[in-house]
Amino acid sequence: MRKIVIELSSVGKKFIMGFTGLFLCLFLVVHLGGNFLLLRHDNGAAFNAYSHFMETSWIIRIIEFVLLGVFVIHIVMAFILAKENRSARPIPYAVNKASENSSWFSRYMEITGGIIFIFLCVHLYNFLISQRFFHDYPSMYAAVKTIFHNPWYCAFYVICLVWVGLHLIHGFQSSFQSFGFRHPVFFPWIQRAGLLFVILIFSGFIFIPIYLYFAKSSTAVETSYFGQVSRIRDSHLKMVHKNVKIFSGSKGKS
Ligand code: HEM
Repeated sequence: MRKIVIELSSVGKKFIMGFTGLFLCLFLVVHLGGNFLLLRHDNGAAFNAYSHFMETSWIIRIIEFVLLGVFVIHIVMAFILAKENRSARPIPYAVNKASENSSWFSRYMEITGGIIFIFLCVHLYNFLISQRFFHDYPSMYAAVKTIFHNPWYCAFYVICLVWVGLHLIHGFQSSFQSFGFRHPVFFPWIQRAGLLFVILIFSGFIFIPIYLYFAKSSTAVETSYFGQVSRIRDSHLKMVHKNVKIFSGSKGKS
């Protein structure tokens, strides 16, 4: 009876892990949608309006607390399940062909999860804490642009985003397994759908820092382009003035 309770609770924990994981995937879709506003050519107007809404809306405040709770539950469950797995098998198998028994992604979930945790601490400090509490930058758009103009931050984000994607590749299918979807025909399709989801979402996330980093040089091009235009306009005006002078002078003389 006790064994059944332990097994049931372990299934329950996996279910909670899967549910919270899918909730976090949903958050990523919404988050990416908001971040895409960074790509509009409006000097950050739309993104700053979105960010202002995020900062002032009480509904968002409630969602943020729910999100924090979901993150904490997901991480705590991961620790408990990892500990249970280790204590259930204190002596490692004599022949541990891990690569044959499980995928690379599933074996390194704890490591990729740890990297996500570090990434989140840096990320929340970069944007949420520095901007919402200390107002380090004139706007959220300015914060994002300044941070991604730094090549080290840009590289850090791209590398971390790849690791978040790797974590999700296993996490997505594992959530469905925890819900009991193990059908031999349908499960490979869930795996493919998960892979497609991760590739789409993370190419979007990774594109943003790379685009904003190179946008620095395109801004310079824009400036020099406008600089050139104004110089051309100035010289054109000077020429017009000269012509007017010559014309009016010659008119006056005649
Ligand atoms: C290029 C990629 C990303 C960019 C540019 C970005 C940008 C931002 C910005 C600007 C904020 C502050 C939102 C605001 O209040 O206006 C934020 C918050 C946040 N980001 Fe990201 N983010 C990225 C990727 C991620 C990823 C991959 C995760 C999760 C693994 C993540 C998790 C969060 C969380 C949890 C918050 C706090 C949410 C809130 O309190 O509303 N971000 N991000």
